[in-house]
Amino acid sequence: MQGSANAAAATAQAEEPDAEAVLRFEAVSRRFTGFAAVDEITLSLRRNEILTLLGPSGCGKTTTLRMAIGLERCTSGRIVHRGVVVDEPKKRIYAPPEARDMGIVFQSYAIWPHMTVFDNVAFPLRVRKLEKSEVRAKVDAALEMVGLGGLAERLGTQLSGGQQQRVAIARGLVFNPDVLLLDEPFSNLDAKLREQVRVDLRILQRELQLAILFVTHDQTEALALSDRLAIMREGRIEQIGAPIDLYLRPATPFVRDFLGHWVKLSGVVQGQAEGMTRVRLADGEELAASEGALAPGADVVAAVRPEEIEFSAAQGAKPRNVIAGTIKTLLFLGPHYEARIAISNGDTVLVHLPRTEEWREGQQLWLRIAPTSVRLWPAASAA
Ligand SMILES: Nc1ncnc2c1ncn2[C@@H]1O[C@H](COP(=O)(O)OP(=O)(O)OP(=O)(O)O)[C@@H](O)[C@H]1O
Ligand SMILES: [Mg+2]
Repeated sequence: MQGSANAAAATAQAEEPDAEAVLRFEAVSRRFTGFAAVDEITLSLRRNEILTLLGPSGCGKTTTLRMAIGLERCTSGRIVHRGVVVDEPKKRIYAPPEARDMGIVFQSYAIWPHMTVFDNVAFPLRVRKLEKSEVRAKVDAALEMVGLGGLAERLGTQLSGGQQQRVAIARGLVFNPDVLLLDEPFSNLDAKLREQVRVDLRILQRELQLAILFVTHDQTEALALSDRLAIMREGRIEQIGAPIDLYLRPATPFVRDFLGHWVKLSGVVQGQAEGMTRVRLADGEELAASEGALAPGADVVAAVRPEEIEFSAAQGAKPRNVIAGTIKTLLFLGPHYEARIAISNGDTVLVHLPRTEEWREGQQLWLRIAPTSVRLWPAASAA
């Protein structure tokens, strides 16, 4: 639905200048021949926050980071770092990366394999021509910070993926930048290590009161790590806010479908009564929603987060907002079951069922949905 996507982008564009901003993009674009990889984004990174850019491959995340540090120049708009304009093509202003006080960690880590851990981390300090003794002290402190105190003399080739990633973070932090830019820093790590370094990064960020601009296309990581989250799509910011707000109140179908799962039921609005919108589902069942100003007769999609649905084997005495389903497949995952459920309207949904009841494949069950859990969208609103 282009209309509301543009409305969300317009909101982001109209963002007020932010006193807390360490880094600010003002209507920044990066055009390549024929298209804009980044299309007029306005965005502030505030002191002491992790702001994440999340979006599908090719939406402009890396280009945005590269412009922040100056590896890429914007083609219009301007970038302001601590009140100083560092890139503004119209005024021919451009400050190179070494003049911007920002650390960066690339997706590939870019660790030099033939150099020791110490020399890898010392690199930004040597570029800045610091005294030898100062280099030693700062590198030692940075390695200590990321838990690599004992490994200074190891070669890059003698490190695990997780250790390389820590070296890259130490190198990004060693000159005490006030902004750290991270481009998918955990993508080469296995799931368990990823969870660990994610928590470590959070602790480090809080300790150092860093502002971090974080790029990922992993939504769990984005939800878990961010103070604020910006969903990007085709070079624009579709919605920005606290992770929980985007998760609970997506402004557009794209954001809705990008974050987490929904059970989606199609139906037609019957009318409003007692502050509720009544929706007749495709199979004739009725669902009340506590939101929605949609007119009777409107085709809608009623979207519900699966974790807000209550499942039971019995229909119950007052079956309001209860719909029927059948368990098609049932997998025991430990904390819960994962079940594929055929709903009576013909849709199949994947949900978790509690261990506290006994379930079996082929069994009929009931889905109880609170009216407050139902989000109504015009049916035409494809992502
Ligand atoms: N130097 C370049 N010349 C032409 N097009 C480019 C250049 N750099 C990036 N692009 C294009 O700009 C768009 C955005 O690229 P970018 O690397 O910012 O995406 P991304 O969001 O980081 O994607 P991914 O998640 O795959 O890393 C892509 O379509 C890409 O092909
Ligand atoms: Mg990228």
